[in-house]
Amino acid sequence: MAAARWPLLPLLLLLLLLTAGVSPETFGAPCGGTLVGQDSGVLQTPGFPGPYPVPLRCAWVLDASHRQEPSIALYLTQLYLLSGLTITQYAYYEREDFHMGEQELLAVSEQNALDSRVVVAHSPYLVVRLTAQRLEGNQLRALPHLLTVFGFNITWEARDGSPKPWHACSVADCSLAGACLAASDFKSFGCHCFEGHHGEDCGRGPGCSESNNPCRNGATCRHTGWHPEPRCLCRPGYAGPHCETRLQAGNADCPAPASAPCTDCATGEKSRFTITVRLTGNSTVSGLSRHQLERQVRENGRRC
Ligand SMILES: *[C@@H]1O[C@H](CO)[C@@H](O)[C@H](O)[C@H]1NC(C)=O
Ligand SMILES: *[C@@H]1O[C@H](CO)[C@@H](O)[C@H](O)[C@H]1NC(C)=O
Repeated sequence: MAAARWPLLPLLLLLLLLTAGVSPETFGAPCGGTLVGQDSGVLQTPGFPGPYPVPLRCAWVLDASHRQEPSIALYLTQLYLLSGLTITQYAYYEREDFHMGEQELLAVSEQNALDSRVVVAHSPYLVVRLTAQRLEGNQLRALPHLLTVFGFNITWEARDGSPKPWHACSVADCSLAGACLAASDFKSFGCHCFEGHHGEDCGRGPGCSESNNPCRNGATCRHTGWHPEPRCLCRPGYAGPHCETRLQAGNADCPAPASAPCTDCATGEKSRFTITVRLTGNSTVSGLSRHQLERQVRENGRRC
């Protein structure tokens, strides 16, 4: 009996080896893939800008090993995801369970999604991985235009050496009111504004037209897609939501007449920002989470 089983043993071993060789992370259709020998291209979620099927797990392997001194730049032109996307460079990458010199360059999160424009790998392999369990709660949503945009549509290019990446744009640079698109040569980028918006950053819109400008005292009126009201960028010496308040001469930080004691204000900054946010629990306001709003307040607001 035992002797009869022996011939099967090598076959069994081979089968075991084959199964062990299959990566536990099985990527594949309907997105991802290995891009070999190319120098530029577009990576996008299936069905972009529409919803992608979930759960979804895929990896794009950008292989620039055909170049002598490869570097790969990934331009996050149209990134509407707030999580689930990681970008990792490798000195060598053959497959998910066989690679060397791994270094994560970016894990997209609520904290960095709006600030990231370009990620550069100074190595021959860049792997872009997407893991999405669901569509909800993972999405940059800004009223009114982006409610129906899902996933991402980003571009990449491989070059020799470590040249400076091109000056690219992002969703935020287009005021969330337009799409940042690469030119056909992937070397220049520009905002293509949604209907009703215009300007280099798509910041001019219905609330900022010649006939309808709420901003006073020569301020610049700008739209941001996430906010139905335009913003007013005040000239020095003015403050307030519409730049309606003239700051007191001598103490540029304090509106005149001073409504609150300003003695504790740090001097040096010439403008004062007024920000009103409503935060309730962990809900989102105009598509921005509490965390993002708080960060904006920290970035824009002064401590006084
Ligand atoms: C995807 O990005 C490329 C490059 O920026 C652009 O040409 C194309 O129009 C985009 N596709 C969609 C559906 O927005
Ligand atoms: C708030 O957080 C709780 C617990 O983490 C979660 O169940 C709920 O869906 C969240 N609500 C929103 C609006 O995100």
